[in-house]
Amino acid sequence: MANSQVRPVIIDTDGGVDDALAIVMALNCEHLDLKAVTVLAGNIDVNQAANNVLRVIEIVQPKQPPLVAKGCEKPLVRPPFNAAGIHGADGLGELHQFKNADGSPRYPQLTVEPSSEDAVDVLLKAAQEYGSELTIVALGPLTNIATALQRERSTLQKVGRIVIMGGAVKVPGNISAAAEFNFFVDPDAAQVVMESGIPLTLVGLDVAMKAPLPRKDVENYVQKQRSLVSQFIADCTGIYMAFYRDNEGFHGCYLHDPLAVGVAIDPSLVSTESVYMVVETEGRFTSGMSLADLRDRRDESTFPPNVDACLEVDTERFMKLFYDLI
Ligand code: RIB
Ligand code: CA
Repeated sequence: MANSQVRPVIIDTDGGVDDALAIVMALNCEHLDLKAVTVLAGNIDVNQAANNVLRVIEIVQPKQPPLVAKGCEKPLVRPPFNAAGIHGADGLGELHQFKNADGSPRYPQLTVEPSSEDAVDVLLKAAQEYGSELTIVALGPLTNIATALQRERSTLQKVGRIVIMGGAVKVPGNISAAAEFNFFVDPDAAQVVMESGIPLTLVGLDVAMKAPLPRKDVENYVQKQRSLVSQFIADCTGIYMAFYRDNEGFHGCYLHDPLAVGVAIDPSLVSTESVYMVVETEGRFTSGMSLADLRDRRDESTFPPNVDACLEVDTERFMKLFYDLI
């Protein structure tokens, strides 16, 4: 994104820990005009996800807080599936456990509520108003976006680009051997978006797993830069990072969603390949798998590329942007 530009953006999120870090980045980025944050069920239920987004906004205190609107409570077809075991029961590392020196809650009950507007209507109104100027950054399952396409396809098709955190091209899944979490939760929605004709950038596990954030770096960061935001980052990532320590031997986490925001800000952070991609919706073992046609002799007239899939990332440059924006 050219530095002089300020582009309208909507973040669609399932309200987890890495979503929160991504929203902090977006709120602090002078090149993004975050018009709204639309919310859906994924890591956690939609009400808690909305509450988590409001928590981040309360902590960052942006001059112009974005609208927060709740959307889909469950996937298009599949039963609900969440990641409370990974992000904590509240989706943000169980913030209720943290106290101030005087014993008062460090994160007291919020007094703000999400908008009464429906998230899908917010997406469609923004598509109508901003058209090709609008970038949607999708950080959770694609249920809201797919529902918007089903409701008013031609309206949503006006958006300039959707940057999607989801899927995997040349690497295994994370929630199953075949599937990345966001596509696993709602494979039908992911396939609807793959067929939408909207320019898509896929920020999948191929690059997300090359953006690690070690726990020790967070602890050093908090020591060096004491603030409400840095303390929040240390607090909300505790359980999430312990999950990776206990299950993958890495005490830290991967910056899946922050990288998607990073790519929306500066596409030069990644190298991409335009591929024809489908998402498996029926597979007994492969549901949610993102399948890219990488064959040398692929028939692009019959199966034209529909996704710019990120395959490499400049990790060092991305991490600098991350620390600049949190
Ligand atoms: O697979 C990682 C994705 O699933 C991230 O968006 C994370 O927040 C979860 O939603
Ligand atoms: Ca997410």
